[in-house]
Amino acid sequence: METFSTQKFIVNPGGKINGTLRVPGDKSISHRAIMLGALAKGITQINGFLDAEDTNATLDAFKEMGVPIEETTSGELIIHGVGLHGLQAPSAPLYLGNSGTAIRLLTGIMAGQTFSVEIGGDESLSRRPMRRITEPLNAMGAHVLASDNDNPPLIILDKQRLQGIDYTLPIPSAQIKSCLLLAGLYANGTTCVTEPVPTRDHTERMLHSFGYPIKREGRRVCLQGGGKLQGISIDVPADISSAAFFIVATIITKGGDLLLNHVGINPTRTGVINILRQMGANITLHNQRNIGGEQIADIHVRSSSLHGIKIPQDQVPLAIDEFPIIFIAAACAKGETVLTGAEELRVKESDRIQVMADGLRAIGIDAKPTTDGMVVRGGKIRGGVVNSCGDHRVAMAFTMAALCAKEAITIEDCTNVSTSFPNFVNLAQETGIDIKLVNQL
Ligand code: S3P
Repeated sequence: METFSTQKFIVNPGGKINGTLRVPGDKSISHRAIMLGALAKGITQINGFLDAEDTNATLDAFKEMGVPIEETTSGELIIHGVGLHGLQAPSAPLYLGNSGTAIRLLTGIMAGQTFSVEIGGDESLSRRPMRRITEPLNAMGAHVLASDNDNPPLIILDKQRLQGIDYTLPIPSAQIKSCLLLAGLYANGTTCVTEPVPTRDHTERMLHSFGYPIKREGRRVCLQGGGKLQGISIDVPADISSAAFFIVATIITKGGDLLLNHVGINPTRTGVINILRQMGANITLHNQRNIGGEQIADIHVRSSSLHGIKIPQDQVPLAIDEFPIIFIAAACAKGETVLTGAEELRVKESDRIQVMADGLRAIGIDAKPTTDGMVVRGGKIRGGVVNSCGDHRVAMAFTMAALCAKEAITIEDCTNVSTSFPNFVNLAQETGIDIKLVNQL
């Protein structure tokens, strides 16, 4: 007989947010650290790796391709890099769970291998668009097939050597940019990617740290195939995307005062801070430092009164993962917040425009979804039941909404929180949130 197991959160109002917190490691940097460490010569040592389902899917994929990876007793990862041409064909299809970053970046690497491979994931991943990477990869000479021409599983056939490409991103996406740059490592000649608006640049920074020549001129980034990566030591900062839930929680809670330690503040990721500050949030950055090519700071947040704004277009790609929690901030703000130019939210782990609008309405907030964004009118959060539709960031966003609700909020389908934020419930309890996890059959 089939058994179903899922989790729900029940969050009571009246929580407090105080103290000091370090959220888990950055997901984007953790994926890239495994990938580049595996493709480098020599040893790569990773401190602060995000031990979550998404990043462990990447780790397991490289183990299955013959890369020795060990964990030390102090929790560091040691990768014995096999070099750009040292991966072995896996004996079975690679399974990447819920992770869009893993599948899109890995497909770029797989396109350069001399073996064929199949890559797939869970139900949500199997619905996500892949033509955005298969088209340019195939234009480079790869042979990547997608189901219905767009979705995972992807089959990457062995082929002739790739040719470099000069490609302008049709949508702002660091995943497409990174996929093509990683394929470019294996291509004849130069691969250039031009992005009309900046997106996260961890791949470029990390390639540089691994000693791979990469050039940026304005919006265009280029590299030559056939170089070498040399193993390094990486310190993964705390993930600003995870910190964002606690930043908003502190802002919307009376008397909230929280210090978030060692958070990555790469300027291509700090849209959430810029947007919240424009809404009136009291957020200050302390002890700013640069570690291994990434900027890091301790973030001090205090309870603040927010007002609605029209979110600037240039901030959208810089806050693309933070809109679920920004919508909660908007629900607690005075007046209207308007988001446009964010159609990409419809093809994330869920349709985040629809799922967030449905959830906000279920707890008493006036939210109007549009094709490319949302209009949220701040008001009194009543409480109620919302469905996260298996989306980790939606589940964590509605957890924080309970802090200024009149009654409890129950959030259904929360199991996937472990894809990006292990220990979320414990950390939330430690900071003063009244949250209970219920396992259901
Ligand atoms: C990511 C890029 C973003 C983001 C995702 C992580 C990355 O996706 O939403 O969670 O690590 O490159 P897109 O590049 O598709 O916008």
